[in-house]
Amino acid sequence: MQIQENISLRNYNSFGINANARYFANFSSIVQLEELIANYKLQTTNHKLLILGGGSNILFTKDFDGLVLKNELKGIELVNEDETFFYVKASAGENWHGFVLHCIDNGYAGVENLSLIPGNVGASPMQNIGAYGVEIKDVFEELEAYHIHENIVQKFSAGDCAFGYRESIFKRKHKDAFVILNVTFRLRKQPVFNISYGAIEQELEKMNVRELSIKSISQVVINIRSSKLPDPKVIGNAGSFFKNPAIPHIQFNELKMLFPDMVGYASGSENTKVAAGWLIEQCSWKGYREGDTGCHAKQALVLVNYGNAKGEEIYALSTKIIDSVKSKFGIELEREVNII
Ligand code: FAD
Ligand code: EPU
Repeated sequence: MQIQENISLRNYNSFGINANARYFANFSSIVQLEELIANYKLQTTNHKLLILGGGSNILFTKDFDGLVLKNELKGIELVNEDETFFYVKASAGENWHGFVLHCIDNGYAGVENLSLIPGNVGASPMQNIGAYGVEIKDVFEELEAYHIHENIVQKFSAGDCAFGYRESIFKRKHKDAFVILNVTFRLRKQPVFNISYGAIEQELEKMNVRELSIKSISQVVINIRSSKLPDPKVIGNAGSFFKNPAIPHIQFNELKMLFPDMVGYASGSENTKVAAGWLIEQCSWKGYREGDTGCHAKQALVLVNYGNAKGEEIYALSTKIIDSVKSKFGIELEREVNII
C-alpha cells in the first residue's frame, strides 16, 4: 500500500493513452483507502484524486497531476434471498464480465444482456451501464460508497442514485466526492428474457438455440458485441465515445423528411433517441484515420487509438465530429467518455 510517483497509465486505460499519474496507489480494503487518502492529504497541498476501475470509460488528455487510486476491492457474496430474488453483493474491484459469468453459473438472472461490458463493478452505477435493452438500474438494489472528504460510508438506494441514460448522481452532483465500495444487485430466480433489442433474435436463430437460457442469451450478446466492437487489447478504445442524442419528436420528423433513412427510437413521450453512429457515418467519419487516431470502421460511435495516439488528438477528432454533425443535422452530440 505504497504511493508510487510518476507512473505511466498506459496499461490502466483501454484507450492505451500514455499519460502519467503524479502519484499512484492500489487499495484492497476500506482501511487502506482511508489511510491512503489521509496520508496524501497530510503530505501534499494538492488533493486531486482519481478513482480508477478498469479504465475503460476514460480519456486522458493530459498527465494527471494528483493521486490515482486503483480499486482492487474483491469479493462476491449472496447476502439475501426471498421468493423471487437473489440479492448479490459484489465488491467494486470485481471485473464486471467476471461478475456476469458468476451470476450465470449460479442461476442469478438479469445481467446476461450486459455480458462482455469491460470495466469493474464499481463503475457500473457511475453511468448506469446499459446494453441490449437492459441497464443496471433494472437490477440495482443498493450500493455503499465512501465519502472522500467526510470520511464516512453511506448507502444509496436506486432513487438516491438518480439513474438516467448513461447518467447518475455520481457523474453530476456527487462528482469526485465518493468512492463506490460495493453494489448489491437484485437478481431473479425465474429469468425474464429480454430479446427484443436489435440483432438478438437473429443471432439466436443463427446459433440454432431452441430453448432460451441466461447462458444462451449471454453467448448471443457476446457474439454480437465481438462482431462490431473493437477489442481494446488489440485497438485502443473506450466503447461509444458519444451518447445517442434525444431530440423532440417534431425535430426528428422534420429531419426524417430530409433524411428518410435516419435511425431513431421513441424515448419517452416527447423525444426520439437518434442513433449517433448513423449521424457520424452520414458525415463520412466511419473508417476515418488520421495518424493513430480514428473512427472505427464497423461502429462509427467508437473512436480508436491505433497505437500511439495522444489523448488530446482523440479529443480533437471528437470535436471535429461534433461540429460536422451539428452543421449537417443541427444536433449537438455529447461525449459519453469521462475526459480527464
Ligand atoms: P473507469 O473507466 O475506470 O472509470 C469510469 C469513471 O468512473 C471515472 O470517472 C472514474 O473515476 C469513476 N469510477 C470508477 N470506479 C469508481 C468507484 N469505485 N467509485 C467512484 N468512481 C469510480 N458502457 C456501457 O454502458 N455499455 C456498453 O455496452 C459498453 N460497451 C463498451 C465496449 C467497449 C469495447 C469499451 C472499451 C467500453 C464499453 N463501455 C460500455 C464503457 C465502459 O465499459 C463502462 O463505462 C464501464 O462501466 C467502465 O468501467 P471501468 O471500471 O473501466 O471504469
Ligand atoms: N449505426 C449506424 N452506423 C454505425 C453504427 C450504428 O448506422 O456505424 C446505427 C444502426 O442503424 C444501428 C443503430 O445505429 O442499428 C444502433 O447501433 P448499435 O445497436 O450498435 O448500438 P448503438 O446505439 O450504436 C448503444 C450503446 C452501446 C451498447 C449498444 C447495444 C450508447 C451510446 N451506446 O450503441 O454502449 O453496447 O447500444 O445496446 O448508448 C457504450 O456505452 O460504450 C456502448 C458500447
